This record gives sequence, C-alpha cells and structure tokens, in this order.
Amino acid sequence: MERTLALIKPDATARNLHGAILARIQEAGLRVVALKTLRLSPEQARGFYHVHRERPFFEDLVRFMTEGPIVAMVLEADGAIARWRDLMGPTDAAKAPKGTIRGDFGTDIERNACHGSDAPETAAFEVGFFFSGLELSGL
Ligand code: RTP
Ligand code: MG
Repeated sequence: MERTLALIKPDATARNLHGAILARIQEAGLRVVALKTLRLSPEQARGFYHVHRERPFFEDLVRFMTEGPIVAMVLEADGAIARWRDLMGPTDAAKAPKGTIRGDFGTDIERNACHGSDAPETAAFEVGFFFSGLELSGL
C-alpha cells in the first residue's frame, strides 16, 4: 500500500468543492486515511513548496496558497501517488481534460483546485509536513 499527500487548494475550498472532490476520491477507490482543514502562513507555504523557490511563479503561488483555507489529506491505495495525479489531471487547469478534477473545477495553471505528491520521496516529506506520526498512528 502506498500513501500520498493530497490538498484541496484555496480556490476550491472557497467554492465549497470539498464534497465533489471527496466523491471522486471515493469513486476511485482511494482510502482517506487522514483529513484536516487549515490555513497556511506565508512561511509555511514557502516551506511546503521550497522545491519551487527559484521559479518565477513562487511568490504568486505562496500568495494563492495562503489566501484561504486548504484541506490536507493522506490517501492510501496501491499506486496511490500516480492514481491521485491521474484523477487531478495536468497542472494547467485550462488545458486539463474534462472529467479530471482540474479540468472540471480548476481555472488556470495556478488556480488548479488540488495538489498531489509526485514521487515516493516527496510524498514522505509532504505527509510529514502536514501530519505527525502520532496523528497517523493506528490509521
Ligand atoms: P502540485 O505540486 O500543486 O500538485 O502541482 P503540479 O505538480 O502539477 O505542478 P508543479 O510544477 O509542482 O507546480 C506547483 C504549483 O504551482 C502553481 N504553478 N503556477 N504560474 C505558473 O506558471 C505556475 N506553474 C505552476 C500551480 O498551482 C501548481 O500546481
Ligand atoms: Mg508538484
């Protein structure tokens, strides 16, 4: 079994899309291991996205990710990382196919409704960023 970190981003929480996104997760057979709502500070958002710190869009991304609440989840399944990224669709929501979460609920390359870890190493870092061992023990 593999675990991945999923986020519902501020554009999607502002539109109350929690239920619609969770329904897709359920239909895809991904188990919701843990879930919480929180609002990131700018320093926390910079820490989470530190791999992008040299990119030109970094401060815009930090502003977006701190503009409202997010939902953080740990999803579990065989191949959870790839399966969640398939469900989300490509980064640019304007080009994402209909039927994907980003294609149906996102707006553009930045405001794209959701996040998913892209590899086992990043999933381990990202799950640990939002959830402690104590919070996940026994789950
Ligand atoms: P994520 O990390 O959020 O799951 O998205 P991703 O892997 O598909 O895309 P990534 O390249 O990791 O970019 C992280 C997030 O930064 C924003 N972004 N803005 N303005 C831009 O050109 C641009 N490019 C990326 C998006 O919110 C993207 O999800
Ligand atoms: Mg990424």
